[in-house]
Amino acid sequence: EQAGKGEYDHFMLKEIHEQPTALAQAIEGRIDPENGRIALEDFPPGTFDGVENVQLIACGTSYHAALYGSVALNQAGIHATALLANEYSVTAPPVDDDTLVIAVTQSGETADTLSALRQATAAGADTLTVTNVVGSTAAREADDTLFIRAGPEIGVAATKTFSSQAVMLTLLAQRIAADARDETPADLQSLLPDLAQMPGQLEDLLATDDAAHIASQYQGSQSYFFIGRGLGYPVALEGALKFKEITYEHAEGFASGELKHGPLALVTPDTPVFAVFTGEEDEKTLKNAEEAQTRGAPVIAVCPEGHRAAEVADEHLEIPDADDELAGLLANVQLQLVSYHAAELLDRPIDKPRNLAKSVTVE
Ligand code: G6P
Repeated sequence: EQAGKGEYDHFMLKEIHEQPTALAQAIEGRIDPENGRIALEDFPPGTFDGVENVQLIACGTSYHAALYGSVALNQAGIHATALLANEYSVTAPPVDDDTLVIAVTQSGETADTLSALRQATAAGADTLTVTNVVGSTAAREADDTLFIRAGPEIGVAATKTFSSQAVMLTLLAQRIAADARDETPADLQSLLPDLAQMPGQLEDLLATDDAAHIASQYQGSQSYFFIGRGLGYPVALEGALKFKEITYEHAEGFASGELKHGPLALVTPDTPVFAVFTGEEDEKTLKNAEEAQTRGAPVIAVCPEGHRAAEVADEHLEIPDADDELAGLLANVQLQLVSYHAAELLDRPIDKPRNLAKSVTVE
């Protein structure tokens, strides 16, 4: 097992560092930045003609990727909802001929997700699986599959598969929108070149040690909060999930604007607040973060250098400049590193957290 980890102490850290390669594999041959085109192999132009509604079903970290995809779809003008697969049997919105149901599951074997996928198929929806595993049950059972090509992930806490899923869903959102509107969305002209740069930007980010410093600075805090808006919201949820999974410390993610509607009662000088800035109404998010800061909470801004939040916050975790649709994914990698280092300081069994399994095959 040690051999498989190479130079790293844990698979999780190795897999965090594999993200530049994983993303390069995910986009290879699929984007043409010069001409603003996306080529997803099994989906020639026109594949998604007539899709009016998208439901994304998933669990755990994949649910956060699904939520990311739903925000990207809604922002691209397509009606989309992310749904917890384990709630689908009791809460599924109606599906019709114009509904596409996307199962997001890195393993392709999660029982809750398979069950929701089967329910959607029985109800007559078109189905598509976004997965890492060729030949998995979800890949075999859906009408179509989009592989994220992240390579094997051993750490129970998903890292590189989240990033690759979110990137593939971002591309898929643009493709669905292009087919539905029969035109190339204008924002591809900035998204695709930025996406092509992302593996290199991640290499640079992974060479910094700011996250380790933040983890040690706030070690022993009572709770850890994560806030974000738009695409930053699923990133905040994922930041908190990763933190609780591997550190066993209490962590929660909130939509930035929700902080004042209840969670602010929990905020004290002993509850660091990580604020994710994605370029979507950042001024509002900064105001929300300042409301926590006024109550004494240290604020860690995850944003590019020169961003106003970096001056206002107590600490700054830097991310490279990127398109709004990708900034959250860079922020997510910083948050993965904070969780990793926090768990390492606590000497947790990072690759195999207690009570958790890589793939849950019971409902
Ligand atoms: C388990 C894992 C999580 C994962 C979830 C969904 O609970 O511990 O890390 O996000 O299953 O897995 P999937 O394979 O469907 O993405």
